[in-house]
Amino acid sequence: MAKIKITIDDHTIQVEQGTTILQAARLIGGEVVPPAMCYHSKLKDSGGKCRTCMVKVVQGSEKDPRPMPKLVASCRTEAQDGMVVQNITSPEVVAARKAVVEFLLINHPLDCPVCDQAGECDLQDLSYKHGTNASRYEEEKRTYETIDIGPLIQFHPNRCILCYRCVYAANELTEKRVHGVLYRGEKSEISTFIHQSIDSDFSGNIIDVCPVGALTDKTFRFKNRVWFTRPMDAHRSCSKCSGKTTLWLRGDEVYRVTGRKNQYGEVEEFICNECRFEKKSKADWVIDGPRKVSPTSVIGQNHYKTLVKPHVISPLKEKME
Ligand code: SF4
Ligand code: SF4
Ligand code: FES
Repeated sequence: MAKIKITIDDHTIQVEQGTTILQAARLIGGEVVPPAMCYHSKLKDSGGKCRTCMVKVVQGSEKDPRPMPKLVASCRTEAQDGMVVQNITSPEVVAARKAVVEFLLINHPLDCPVCDQAGECDLQDLSYKHGTNASRYEEEKRTYETIDIGPLIQFHPNRCILCYRCVYAANELTEKRVHGVLYRGEKSEISTFIHQSIDSDFSGNIIDVCPVGALTDKTFRFKNRVWFTRPMDAHRSCSKCSGKTTLWLRGDEVYRVTGRKNQYGEVEEFICNECRFEKKSKADWVIDGPRKVSPTSVIGQNHYKTLVKPHVISPLKEKME
């Protein structure tokens, strides 16, 4: 396939034709990568909903160097040969992203202290990195009736940011389309038919793709905080899925089983409900080793002692204990 050249925040890279700006940025890595709350590389057609990945195209291409008139969604815009893009080097992008975070939080509840997603929530990370610490919104927040979607998955519609990821996951993992987003604008809501999409052996994956705490694991609900648990990669022989998962352990107790997530919080492979909800004993699994977590993640706090050599930490360790 033909290769093209794109420059993002002064880093130039060659990519295959058809690559989006976001994918090209991920190939460069680091600060150049825009945040993405709705795009998910394993979900076909995802993206284009949240606006967090917006960037400025200062040169459209080698052939047509005119800038694009507005900021564009990097997850939906194809790279062109000779394209020049600004992400964090553009004050306009930084300001727009701040505005998007404020917008996403307008109707979001202040549930973090009681939310099972806290500590691994993309919205928390996004607000911390790109938001402001105050809201100008004085009106009453929009709220929805709670909907019971069965014994395995907890649905909190008030926390939903309408990213559509669970809709695309259900589309891919179930035989017929049974839920979606109803209405428009402020009235939009994830359809009440969501409970029908959980009638599948792979329904638990909507928990993993949800970037916030709108869909959480009912079997883990209020049992622990993620930063007290230690994620370990494990596998088992399974006839329905690859059986490759992450176990969230405290001591020898398996509190939760999830798919393995990459550095962008995207699951590498979808796992079945048997692995996720029914195999909660360490004896069910072969442990592969600790899951690598970002050093800045709150989940990493339980890894300090294993990551630092004992002779290096000993004076510090005394202070910590
Ligand atoms: S979804 Fe994220 S930001 Fe919202 S309450 Fe839960 S942890 Fe907090
Ligand atoms: S429930 Fe979660 S995954 Fe589904 S649209 Fe809302 S935020 Fe996205
Ligand atoms: S990640 Fe691009 S619009 Fe949401």
